Amino acid sequence: MSNVAVVGTQWGDEGKGKIIDLLTENADIVARYQGGNNAGHTVIINDNEFTLHLIPSGILHKGKKCIIGNGVVINPKALLEEIAELEDKEISVNENNLYISKSAHVTMPYHIVSETLKEERDRGRIGTTLRGIGPTYVDKAARMGIRMCDLIDSDIFRAKLEENLEQINVLFEKIYGVKGFQVSEIFDEYSKYVEKLAPFVSDTVFMLNKAIDKGVSVLFEGAQGALLDVDHGTYPYVTSSNSTSGGICTGLGVGPTKVDSIIGVVKAYTTRVGEGPFPTELKGELGDKLRNAGPIGEYGRSTGRPRRCGWFDGVIAGYSAMLNGLSSLAITRLDILDDLDEINVCVAYEYNDQRLEEFPYRSDILQQCKPIYEKLPGWMESTVDIREYSKLPKNAQKYLNRLSELMNVPIAIVSVGPQRSQTIFVEKNL
Ligand code: IMP
Repeated sequence: MSNVAVVGTQWGDEGKGKIIDLLTENADIVARYQGGNNAGHTVIINDNEFTLHLIPSGILHKGKKCIIGNGVVINPKALLEEIAELEDKEISVNENNLYISKSAHVTMPYHIVSETLKEERDRGRIGTTLRGIGPTYVDKAARMGIRMCDLIDSDIFRAKLEENLEQINVLFEKIYGVKGFQVSEIFDEYSKYVEKLAPFVSDTVFMLNKAIDKGVSVLFEGAQGALLDVDHGTYPYVTSSNSTSGGICTGLGVGPTKVDSIIGVVKAYTTRVGEGPFPTELKGELGDKLRNAGPIGEYGRSTGRPRRCGWFDGVIAGYSAMLNGLSSLAITRLDILDDLDEINVCVAYEYNDQRLEEFPYRSDILQQCKPIYEKLPGWMESTVDIREYSKLPKNAQKYLNRLSELMNVPIAIVSVGPQRSQTIFVEKNL
């Protein structure tokens, strides 16, 4: 296998966890490049369900090396809890299978509290996961962030914390009218985490590039989805990192020529969590039906929030294919549509009596866009046991082919259920 990236093409939750898990078989290293514990990747292996937030799902495979890149933001407490949960399920996490970038930024308690206070004050304007992700990236861009290499040096950590709290406590007291934090409180708590995490911290950029030069296969793992990308998504209703494939290079320190192919994971319909425009959203019974169909319902894996559900949106999917430079598609959750007699696919928007085929950059415009639908006949047959594309009902094949045509990207994988076995490989050499 060459170096393959797996990215989300909608608003996240496309089922990347399962696809990454399947492709990990062929990879030696799995490397995550952005986001933090706002993500929740679910992998089901036989009767065991694993939800990973920070650690690449490659950890579930023996002998694979997992990298948490410099572009990821790390909540040390959450990471240690995740390690403990894996160890409880007899998955070993050690210095030979988990490598954390020295330059990854650390989420501090004040990031989480300030985000909560801001969302409360703005009445949940963005609908974030309240994990402190945005404020951690704000400090990174403001050049006042604390990185893993700072955290593991107690003198540097204390000095940076003192400097930051001097500023941040003023913000808490003056803007939100609440008491700030004490240096010793955070220092003592985080020093305990350092003891456990320090052995994992390493120079992942050199490690990864040397491995690639030796011909080792890497799987680049994306979190969230293209429409949540801070530059290209439905701003301001986005996350604070670059979830599109461009983030791989900056978030891991590898050049673009090192990425051989990019697989876009796309759900056979659309979902989103949190606030923001969603032209094909279904608010009534049909939305509830999509949310609750199948063995795993549409509820956020990190926050438990119900996901908003709607028809497949070819405008955003096509835009995402372009942004990511997709080589192929992994279409997931086809089985959820099994008992619908008719399925809508959005092929363009209507805005101000005009037909719009390109993603409008302003969220207020997207909010007013009305989807123009094409109606496709359903297949009214279960697909959960089908393992070959040609054996899928003809209408299911027509539906999938239409999605591929709208995105102008060939299909490599179709997923018809959460189990590893419930997969149709259209392209065998991934
Ligand atoms: P944040 O990433 O917590 O700042 O949240 C910003 C927006 O991204 C909110 O709408 C979240 O619901 C959404 N979001 C963040 N992570 C995920 C994810 O892994 N899946 C789906 N939505 C996400």
